[in-house]
Amino acid sequence: MAIRGFLTLFILAIFYSTVTGQVKTCEPCDSSKCPLTSDKECIAGLTLDRCGCCQVCAQRENELCNHPEIPSSKQYEACGENLQCKVRVNTRGGPPEARCECNDQTEMCGSDGKTYRNYCHLMESSKLAKIEQKPIIKVFKRKPCDSVPEITLPPVSVSNKTKTNVFLTCEVAGVPLPVVEWVYRSSAGKQIVYPTDDDRVSTLVRGGPNAHVVTSWLQIQSLQRSDEGTYTCVASNTLGKVEKSCTVTVENGREF
Ligand SMILES: *[C@@H]1O[C@H](CO)[C@@H](O)[C@H](O)[C@H]1NC(C)=O
Repeated sequence: MAIRGFLTLFILAIFYSTVTGQVKTCEPCDSSKCPLTSDKECIAGLTLDRCGCCQVCAQRENELCNHPEIPSSKQYEACGENLQCKVRVNTRGGPPEARCECNDQTEMCGSDGKTYRNYCHLMESSKLAKIEQKPIIKVFKRKPCDSVPEITLPPVSVSNKTKTNVFLTCEVAGVPLPVVEWVYRSSAGKQIVYPTDDDRVSTLVRGGPNAHVVTSWLQIQSLQRSDEGTYTCVASNTLGKVEKSCTVTVENGREF
């Protein structure tokens, strides 16, 4: 049923393009007249052209394609391996458009130790590696590669009056997801590691805003002179540890 519907649309599409003169009708195939297209130059692999005659480069991920639901005056080549033509909302506000989309959207770790957004990205990189005569890239695991923590948003120094509330933010990325601690050091050498059971200084941790990212906040309620010092965001996972510091200064001024 679906195939019949598709066929009808396909025939209609050819009819439409013939009538409008956008695309020439297929002539009998003479493959000796085909331009030479080597698999090497086609990142998304080879496909047969619209007439099923010559080998041409298939459309890559995110390239436009012909979808029965989207009228198009242009005839695109088929989407490459592991890709399918899907209708999507036009991000620039125009009418919906059809683009090649990867069938397998799982983020995965390649044999080169890099994390790929999906299977098609990995395969494209593998193809490029092959062209450069480097080892091809295989799926190492269907999960992101492990990575040392990285502080993507370091805490920023603040200064405020006593009795005010101060927030420090630290955003960290890593796989496995890092654990975040805050280390306070006063100029006199006093040291406190948060979280602790302090009722004025508390921490809050949330996953996000992106995958493999965690955000930690340190809140100092009713700031006191004794809170002044350096605050270090320490992020660690099984692969390593990173840290970034900022200072909290208590401003002079009328205490209210
Ligand atoms: C200073 O304290 C006030 C009152 O608690 C607060 O609204 C403000 O965000 C604080 N400023 C900074 C930079 O933390």
